[in-house]
Amino acid sequence: MTKYEQAADPAPPATTLATAPLLPTYAPHPVVFFTGSGDELTDIEGRRHLDFYGGHCVCVTGHSHPAVVEAITRQAGELVFYSTAVQLPVREAAAEALVEFAPRGLDTVFFCNSGAEANENALKIARLVTGRRRFVAFGGSFHGRTLLALSVTDSPRLRRPYEDLLAPVQFLPFGDAAALAREDLRDVAAVIVEPIQSMAGVREATSEWLTALRARTREAGALLVFDEIQTGLGRLGTPFAAQHYGVVPDLMTLAKGVASGVPMGAVLMSAKVAGHLAPGDLGSTFGGGPLACAALLATLSVIRSAGLMERARVCGERIRAGVAGTAVTAVHGRGLLLGLRVPGRAGELKTFLQDKRILVGGSADPDVLRLMPPLTVRDSSIDALIEAIASFAAER
Ligand SMILES: Cc1ncc(COP(=O)(O)O)c(C=O)c1O
Repeated sequence: MTKYEQAADPAPPATTLATAPLLPTYAPHPVVFFTGSGDELTDIEGRRHLDFYGGHCVCVTGHSHPAVVEAITRQAGELVFYSTAVQLPVREAAAEALVEFAPRGLDTVFFCNSGAEANENALKIARLVTGRRRFVAFGGSFHGRTLLALSVTDSPRLRRPYEDLLAPVQFLPFGDAAALAREDLRDVAAVIVEPIQSMAGVREATSEWLTALRARTREAGALLVFDEIQTGLGRLGTPFAAQHYGVVPDLMTLAKGVASGVPMGAVLMSAKVAGHLAPGDLGSTFGGGPLACAALLATLSVIRSAGLMERARVCGERIRAGVAGTAVTAVHGRGLLLGLRVPGRAGELKTFLQDKRILVGGSADPDVLRLMPPLTVRDSSIDALIEAIASFAAER
């Protein structure tokens, strides 16, 4: 039994699964959660669980961070919603704060509601700006489930039913400089890439390859889109992956943690790209809603004031050092977007950790588990994770 388990409440009887009339979009999780605070979730039986999954990499500031709760509550009391048909100070402040956090050169924002919607709009913008039809994406990519986002997503299972509705896309091998050099990009509207492919098993690009991608797209007149939906908001130890790799794209898409869990997506773009767009070209009723904008402002403020980027770096190192010599044979990624390679036993370890009330994520690579905890994760929680992983190795 780990120290974390000993400290927690005694285990009550098995949880009953909800039977609500919800479409089962995911295999049911055996635990029903009720509340969250920081890096912990509490289930309906009152047991506490450590969250190294972050609700699909969303909970950047932790569950129900007091500053985020306060901002949403205050905003709800002032104005819950008005659309982009009018100007709102909170929306303008959110756009300014996001641009200030982003790499220099991305100075205009379009707000929407999700990652797929952000990518859908980024690709539409590329089409509008270039007049071209074709896109380039990379093997292992995940960009969302709407039709353009799905077009650039490398998942045969998700694509198959809609193949005839998808846009023309060439998938190149991720990180392969030679394949990139061979591809003619002169008829390509946009190349879209996740600087670290999370879903594929936390596969990392090199600075050299991303720099070459930047140069090749620029010379061919194709736009470069960074999908920073998982890599952004301080998770890698820098505001965005773009700053870490020193490569600025033409467009950057955000969602997930941008408003600490209040649904929000965003497309950041250069002034040159924005100059091609006229009122009416894009739209979204809920995009940039006041609650999401208030949550975004609080999120960026917490990331800065609590030193969460530095924390992501330090915690990432603590995890790397701690799992050395266990069943984990390699750690991929950076900061707090990490993939643990556990050859042949990743699924077993995931269940083992779940039984010890520690949530982690799977990936498309059956040998890789993903960690994407809140950036507020405590040292004691990391130590509990390490202790549990070490005990997995010892028990086998
Ligand atoms: C890298 C990446 N892009 C896009 C998406 C789609 O985001 P959403 O589920 O908000 O549409 C995801 C979701 O997991 C993602 O991980």
